[in-house]
Amino acid sequence: MPFSLFNIPASFDPKKDILPLDGKIILVTGANSGLGKQAVLEYAQHNPAQIWLAARSLDKAEAAADDIKTLVPNAPIKLLQLDLSSFDSIKKAAKIFSAESDRLDILMLNAGIMAAAPGLTREGYEYQFGINYMGHALLTKLLLPVLDRTAKSGTNSDVRIVSISSAGYAQAPAEGINFGMLKVTADSMGAFGRFGQSKLAIILFARQSF
Ligand SMILES: NC(=O)c1ccc[n+]([C@@H]2O[C@H](COP(=O)([O-])OP(=O)(O)OC[C@H]3O[C@@H](n4cnc5c(N)ncnc54)[C@H](OP(=O)(O)O)[C@@H]3O)[C@@H](O)[C@H]2O)c1
Repeated sequence: MPFSLFNIPASFDPKKDILPLDGKIILVTGANSGLGKQAVLEYAQHNPAQIWLAARSLDKAEAAADDIKTLVPNAPIKLLQLDLSSFDSIKKAAKIFSAESDRLDILMLNAGIMAAAPGLTREGYEYQFGINYMGHALLTKLLLPVLDRTAKSGTNSDVRIVSISSAGYAQAPAEGINFGMLKVTADSMGAFGRFGQSKLAIILFARQSF
């Protein structure tokens, strides 16, 4: 039996445990590498209508799609440029997606940075909070109309938003989100404190009902 990072038996087998995805449209962020790329590869083997492979670099996105297609030649991949550190990039990506697609069944909010050096996103958010949480929150907000339409379409409409947190959320401040540290570089929190705060925010985001 395969084992996960924490030596917990992992019984999930994507080959048999991912249900048929016929007709579904999927968008995965940070899908040029790691878990995101693997997710696209696994989804592609269950016959979805389209998978949007979003990445901040279109060159990297293209290279990942080429790799995936060596294993699944007919993978219905579309590339989307998306830099979660920039609201302009997020708005542009959401606009392109919404103009080209009339449904969205799975939105996988996968992209993430861990323990990055102090910095700010384009709009001045603490870098890890800005990319891991704010960017995904804005993307979700902009895609809610198409997610909502899909959910209400009544045909094959089991819509999912998948948020990827981390056990590192436990490194967030004990009192929870420190709202005074969201628009500063937050050096004093340390790289893992900032990461933990961003991943705690993701858990809270997933818990709220839309
Ligand atoms: N791997 C683990 O064991 C583990 C454990 C717990 C949680 N997670 C979470 O799972 C997710 C994926 O992890 P991973 O291990 O697959 O990480 P990874 O291999 O480092 O991939 C992260 C992805 O996020 C993208 N990204 C970074 N900054 C971005 C930005 N500003 N805009 C758009 N995309 C950006 C990266 O693109 P570039 O290639 O351009 O940098 C890359 O495609 C993350 O959210 C991570 O926190 C992973």
